[in-house]
Amino acid sequence: MTARSDLPADFTWGTATAAYQVEGAAALDGRGPSIWDTFTRREGAVVGGDTGDVAVDHYHRFGEDVDLMRELGTNAYRFSLSWSRLLPEGTGTLNRAGVDFYRRLAERLLEHGVTPWVTLYHWDLPQALQDRGGWLERDTAGHLADFAAAAHGALGDLVTDWITLNEPWCAAFLGHGSGVHAPGLRVGTRAARAAHHLLLGHGLAVDAIRAGSTPASVGVTLNLYSVRAASGSGADRDAARRVDGLQNRFFLEPVLTGRYPEDVVRDLGEQEWFTANSADLARIHRPIDFLGVNYYSRHTVAAPDPAADAAGGGTFGPAFPGSEGVRSVDTGAPRTHMGWPVVPEGLVDVLEQAHALAPALPLHVTENGSAYPDTVEEDGAVHDGERLRYLQQHVEACALARERGIPLAGYFVWSLMDNFEWAWGFSRRFGLVRVDYDTQQRTVKDSGRWLRAFLREGASTGDQRRPAPGARSPGAVV
Ligand code: FCB
Repeated sequence: MTARSDLPADFTWGTATAAYQVEGAAALDGRGPSIWDTFTRREGAVVGGDTGDVAVDHYHRFGEDVDLMRELGTNAYRFSLSWSRLLPEGTGTLNRAGVDFYRRLAERLLEHGVTPWVTLYHWDLPQALQDRGGWLERDTAGHLADFAAAAHGALGDLVTDWITLNEPWCAAFLGHGSGVHAPGLRVGTRAARAAHHLLLGHGLAVDAIRAGSTPASVGVTLNLYSVRAASGSGADRDAARRVDGLQNRFFLEPVLTGRYPEDVVRDLGEQEWFTANSADLARIHRPIDFLGVNYYSRHTVAAPDPAADAAGGGTFGPAFPGSEGVRSVDTGAPRTHMGWPVVPEGLVDVLEQAHALAPALPLHVTENGSAYPDTVEEDGAVHDGERLRYLQQHVEACALARERGIPLAGYFVWSLMDNFEWAWGFSRRFGLVRVDYDTQQRTVKDSGRWLRAFLREGASTGDQRRPAPGARSPGAVV
């Protein structure tokens, strides 16, 4: 059982969102199109043909949303900048209206005691840069650094905490491997070059931010999975090595140690290209102030098995070049609406893995959360007991990580509110706050109400009580 006081008094308790998922106002005030505007127009790319054109209208409703954060008792808000809102063509001069929006948001947060945490790149590359080759081109890394310098110049007096990239694994391998994310390409192992350019962009952006005139704390957010072999057999252990390699080590090691894991580059068959570009490692391996870790689940994996494949067993496909055909094994753990197994202890695994590579580096869980098919009860409440328990169990895992000596300094829930869940459109809900997509009405769910009680020291992770029926949600109707 964990109480807030079991974690340090200066621990960061936040919520997170991303620009394309929440802002809407896609064609307003000079914003240029991003690859997600293009991708969502592609037939069959997104469930229900949904788009982020309106999303949850955070662009206009951010004031109410900041009130909700205050109501929840959180002290930080992680949001991303829409690159094409600030630089409609991806490069050049800042769009004043875009700067004004983010300044107003940051000011509002600060007025309410909520620290703004800015992610520069949460997957929405300006379409103009995609037209020039996107992340498969080295120049895009330099453009990210220029964007970082411009954004920091415009917001650095209000924002201290900067995250260069969100989950480069997804941008590289879902965007260019399986093609289920924008820009929807399938270039096989060359997707690893997109990963390299993203990482290079990270390193250059770190330097660009540090060169600014206001002090900054800079890091990068990686999505780490706990990876386990389904058995002790050599073949299953090799499957785990491959999946851990591409998912975790391929990003952790260059950022934290300045090297790519050789086995992964070999699995990819990309040795020649990576050797030719190895001088970049010094540019990627820049000193950072913290590492952001997004954690959702564990992969339990077994070696490819043609017989199981015939029965529909193989699950690691083109997003995992070098481990195609590796099987995902059902261990019986409960699953979320995304189908992701709920394994809270895996959070400790990934924090330990990162900590082992950089023992002095503070870590922040920059995303953790779960989707469930919520229902609205007659009293208007959302009794999302499963999400509430998911949250409690992962907060307990944070406390356990601290007990083990890991310098974990913060935890952000994904997400503040329901939003556009990429290829799943609006069909998957992750929010602590429900959004009615017809009216944009916000209602705090039971999970949000529990977090509020926990942060006010009125509840612990052992507290399974439902809020009294009919009780008004704090800040429910705004
Ligand atoms: C992460 C993304 C975030 C959200 C959650 C559910 O991979 O960073 O935008 O979609 O998953």
